[in-house]
Amino acid sequence: MCGIVGYTGKRSAMPVLISGLKKLEYRGYDSAGVALSSDSGILIRKQSGKVAGLADQVEGEKELLSQSHSGIAHTRWATHGPPTTLNAHPHEGNDGRVVLVHNGIIENHNALRDRFKAAGHTFKSETDSEVLAHLVEANYEGDLFEAVKKSLKEVEGTYGVTCMSKDEPGVLVVARSGSPIVIGLGEDETIVASDASAIITYTRQAIYLDDNDIARIEGSKVDIQSLDSGAVTRTPSEIDWSPDAAEKGGYEHYMLKEVFEQPEAIKNTIRGRIDLNRGTAILSGLNLTPREIVDIQRLLIVGCGTSMNAGLIGEYAVEDFAAIPAEVEQAAEFRYRNPIVGSRDMVLAISQSGETADTLAAVREAVDKGSLVAALVNVVGSTIARETGRGIYLHAGPEISVASTKAFTSQVSVLLMIALKIARSHRLSREDGIQIAKEIERIPELVQEVLDINDQIAEVAAHYANYDNAFYIGRGYMFPVALEGALKLKEISYIHAEGYHSAELKHGPIALLEESMPVIALLNQGPGQDKSLSNVAECKARKAPVLGVITAGDEEARKTCDHVIEIPACPQYTAVVPAAVALQLFAYHVARIRGCAIDQPRNLAKSVTVE
Ligand code: F6R
Repeated sequence: MCGIVGYTGKRSAMPVLISGLKKLEYRGYDSAGVALSSDSGILIRKQSGKVAGLADQVEGEKELLSQSHSGIAHTRWATHGPPTTLNAHPHEGNDGRVVLVHNGIIENHNALRDRFKAAGHTFKSETDSEVLAHLVEANYEGDLFEAVKKSLKEVEGTYGVTCMSKDEPGVLVVARSGSPIVIGLGEDETIVASDASAIITYTRQAIYLDDNDIARIEGSKVDIQSLDSGAVTRTPSEIDWSPDAAEKGGYEHYMLKEVFEQPEAIKNTIRGRIDLNRGTAILSGLNLTPREIVDIQRLLIVGCGTSMNAGLIGEYAVEDFAAIPAEVEQAAEFRYRNPIVGSRDMVLAISQSGETADTLAAVREAVDKGSLVAALVNVVGSTIARETGRGIYLHAGPEISVASTKAFTSQVSVLLMIALKIARSHRLSREDGIQIAKEIERIPELVQEVLDINDQIAEVAAHYANYDNAFYIGRGYMFPVALEGALKLKEISYIHAEGYHSAELKHGPIALLEESMPVIALLNQGPGQDKSLSNVAECKARKAPVLGVITAGDEEARKTCDHVIEIPACPQYTAVVPAAVALQLFAYHVARIRGCAIDQPRNLAKSVTVE
């Protein structure tokens, strides 16, 4: 949520900052700004709207602005105060000596603001971040590092912050608590960012700050301290994806690119993790002894949004394969309702970004309660990955589109492998394990078959692009797919869509069925299909247009629907993946026809680091 970039070194800072902001724009796109140190002080340019507007503005002053060799920049997702130019970062203190960009929330900002107002300070914005700039300035006695350090001890809340002072050109001070900061180590230069995508064009060597770390950076010199314990050493790690992975690669949108990357992404997710001979999965990242696996008596899965929907599929698989109870809980709810978890419960946190505040809080709660906690995360080095210490990386590659696609299908693939592994330790025979393992290995090819009919899906989507509402229905493994399909449609096309269990329609929602309420029904062959077909007949009887996602060649299902998308025949537990991919493409084409901002839907941000 919100993106930070900072630069100090030999190059002109402005192009590095603007290109970094473009890479980070998916994290928030309400307003953008840049601050550059110059001989005459710090030059700030900012405006509401997307980074492209800011890029045009600074291009007009290129001669002046490109002379600076250090600066900071920010793209914002509004929390405190609307997305106006005044609320855009960077923010300065009372006399402009200190300028900063900030992600997170300063919870005691009201008290601090009152204190500074009483001392005669004037505030230009409604943001909590500006208050932090005033605080650092008030503590400034010629050493920015010391001023930031002192200030952060007075702050309650979360921050990823990058500061500069007009008195110390070329110096950046960065710190984190609850909001990520990555320091990219270049030759004679350092690039700071809230995520690695803004860095990899320049260097793959990076230090991920820990909570309570604060660093002084000047050119390539980086000194890190912990607010708690003084000087610390943080070992650099290699960012393992290429700069191309964060580009559109010829696709019109990141979302489409990421949808089409899924066969490869899933191959990367399952590579080396399936043991066909023993009919099990090799998941060493879970760091569990055979005894610990046998002892697991319940799996509790926590996550938000799409990651939670993936978790619901995991719930079905764990109970189906392993016959041990599994439950899914919205991460925010888990944290606040005193969950009953013990040492034989495994809590599995699912998060693409590894930074979602509610999921992180749930992880901390579960650790405090003494349960086994593992994470399923895509972004390497992210907070959740580091705090759990045990877990599985998705290896799906960077997901830039705000709507999650390839992370979801990789999450589901890992969950199937976890279910298989637990099942083999509990009750599942080798033969049955081998069968499931083979089916998991087929997932990339199942997905490819859906991608091959992208044009047909686009044609079908054209029939559904002008409705205001839609229902998605499914049962068994397909129920979470209905939830995920509805989420994809609503977030990128702004059509109001709800996912229901097929049987639930009759308990209320059916009252809304009429010609203007299409139903997207997950009808592929498997247990309960006959009942789902009856549910569709009930929809048709109320004149609702029906789009069915059906098994290829299933004539009976085809006859029941107005339009169909066919997915390959496979067991229900793997069919969830091609079915979800079909619904991703459907949502994509509907949104495209409606002219929506597919990669950056309004009001959304890629990683939700506030509660
Ligand atoms: C929807 C979407 C969100 C995220 C949710 C959790 O397409 O992307 O619902 O799934 O914000 O994010 P992570 O997985 O990063 O914890």
